[in-house]
Amino acid sequence: MPNETNAKLVSDALSERFGEAFTVDPNLAGLDELARIAGHRVHRRWIERPVDPDLLRLLCACALSASSKSDLQQADIMVVRDEAKRRKIESLLPEMPWVREAPVFLVFLANGRRLARLFEMRNRPFPNDHLDQFFNAVSDASIVLTTFMRAAAAVGLGCCPISVIRDHAVTVSELLELPPRVIPLAGMCAGWPAEKGEITPRLGLDCTLHEDRYQESDLARRIDNYDQRRAARRPYRRQRAPERWGMASFYGWSEDKARQYGVPQRADFGAFVRAKGFCLD
Ligand SMILES: Cc1cc2nc3c(=O)[nH]c(=O)nc-3n(C[C@H](O)[C@H](O)[C@H](O)COP(=O)(O)O)c2cc1C
Repeated sequence: MPNETNAKLVSDALSERFGEAFTVDPNLAGLDELARIAGHRVHRRWIERPVDPDLLRLLCACALSASSKSDLQQADIMVVRDEAKRRKIESLLPEMPWVREAPVFLVFLANGRRLARLFEMRNRPFPNDHLDQFFNAVSDASIVLTTFMRAAAAVGLGCCPISVIRDHAVTVSELLELPPRVIPLAGMCAGWPAEKGEITPRLGLDCTLHEDRYQESDLARRIDNYDQRRAARRPYRRQRAPERWGMASFYGWSEDKARQYGVPQRADFGAFVRAKGFCLD
């Protein structure tokens, strides 16, 4: 049956996201799913309604149904229920009150341990101790994280990943008793959303969608176009660290990112990952 409503939701969301028109065939299957994917937004405010533990388990099972590199299954999910552990994590991130307020807090883990343990169990040397194993585990964890967000959105929950927990990787790792070769990819707040949230415009497809060969001609103009389009719909409320960078007369995405990444972030993370037993060579 044609679904004009969902077709319009998809085309509206994508045109808001990318600043171009999309024609969506109302006879296309799966438009409800596409509407949720196209309309994605993170949520950082929740109503005071708990998330049923059985529902959470169901969503985790759906997330862990995601594709896995070579079926190696190197991603895990940690549900943080213990009040003292929640309080400890929140205390590390006072600048993000949504971590405190979220009814549910999870941590998505890249797990390079189980595979190595399997070799121990078989009394065989593990010949794949190199960057690719780390990369595979992180890819699996990222896919599981994304799939969790999709599953949560399907039942009406709102989520926000929290990679800032990696600023405190050692503390989080000790708190959650993560053994060697298991590292946190990101936390995840989830709950029943208190507001609809907004679509964040993305770089135009002229920057991020390539055909047959990588192209970046006219990149500065394309990024500038995006800055302008985004500022018209979702202007930044404040400029990042004006005491350091000054007040810009026009403050767009590229200026914000140049400021955000103009200071070293987690420069010690590689040392943490190595200390956890991953080989990055
Ligand atoms: C891996 C990952 C880590 C993130 N970490 C944080 C975080 O630490 N704190 C936060 O408030 N938002 C975090 N976010 C949310 C992003 O800021 C958000 O996705 C981005 O601003 C785009 O908004 P949108 O997802 O609504 O389109 C993270 C998102 C991802 C995918």
